[in-house]
Amino acid sequence: MPSALCNEIKGPSLDIVIAQKLIKDYDGLRAVDAIDFTIGKGECFGFLGPNGAGKTTVMRIISCFMPPTGGKVTVFGTDVTSGPSEIKSRIGVMPQDNNLDPDLSVIENLIVYARYFNIRKSDALRLGRVLLEFVELQDKTHAKIDELSGGMKHRLLLARSLVNNPEILILDEPTTGLDPHSRRAVWDKLNHLKKQNTTLLLTTHYMEEAEKLCDRVAIMDSGRIVTVNSPADLMKQHGGNLEDVYLKLTGRSLAD
Ligand SMILES: Nc1ncnc2c1ncn2[C@@H]1O[C@H](COP(=O)(O)OP(=O)(O)O)[C@@H](O)[C@H]1O
Ligand SMILES: [Mg+2]
Repeated sequence: MPSALCNEIKGPSLDIVIAQKLIKDYDGLRAVDAIDFTIGKGECFGFLGPNGAGKTTVMRIISCFMPPTGGKVTVFGTDVTSGPSEIKSRIGVMPQDNNLDPDLSVIENLIVYARYFNIRKSDALRLGRVLLEFVELQDKTHAKIDELSGGMKHRLLLARSLVNNPEILILDEPTTGLDPHSRRAVWDKLNHLKKQNTTLLLTTHYMEEAEKLCDRVAIMDSGRIVTVNSPADLMKQHGGNLEDVYLKLTGRSLAD
């Protein structure tokens, strides 16, 4: 790669998500409290924190599912409140909860989802098969959703989030509730996407997940970002593993 291009790709101007003083209130409860962060192209950025820290709220705002109460968020340089359809066409979202359609088969779930992106049915079928192979569910192509294990449903949600070949993949607790084997299978797929330069944005309360996947993590506590750094630097600065770092910085454990 020519070095000029390389600098362009690595340079700070390629922050593709920028949040400034982002606030979200729910009926008087401040769930996200004036946070700032930037996410670079090709980066794997994690929000690490216990339940209730505000992680899902941040993901929903970036995904244009709901507007912020205050502050500003841009994705690809476009404000989430002014250009949601353009942003949604270029991102993939894997939600925290399974929202697959139980009345449709595995492949039908992908085909119907592809319609939101104006992908023709014949193309969607071809794409669906490729994605099922990627997540190793080709044997379940015509299965019903309730015939899938928890790990398989997670992998199908991941496949569905890739239907529009997204530049940013947003994953809300991609492995919560999975057994260690299924968790590792999802990590493998995410590492593969990372190598292809897909920007990954994930939330987790598993430090092992943050350590394995993330280039940088934002440590969240009660709607605030306590610090942002690479897992390795955090552990070097504060000593111990990420759980110890979390305890040191917030006074509480990730399991809280
Ligand atoms: N739709 C909602 N209405 C009211 N309160 C909410 C809603 N969604 C989340 N909250 C509250 O906002 C806070 C942050 O929630 P959330 O973003 O889901 O955190 P996390 O994903 O880190 O568990 C919590 O106190 C939660 O109860
Ligand atoms: Mg959540």
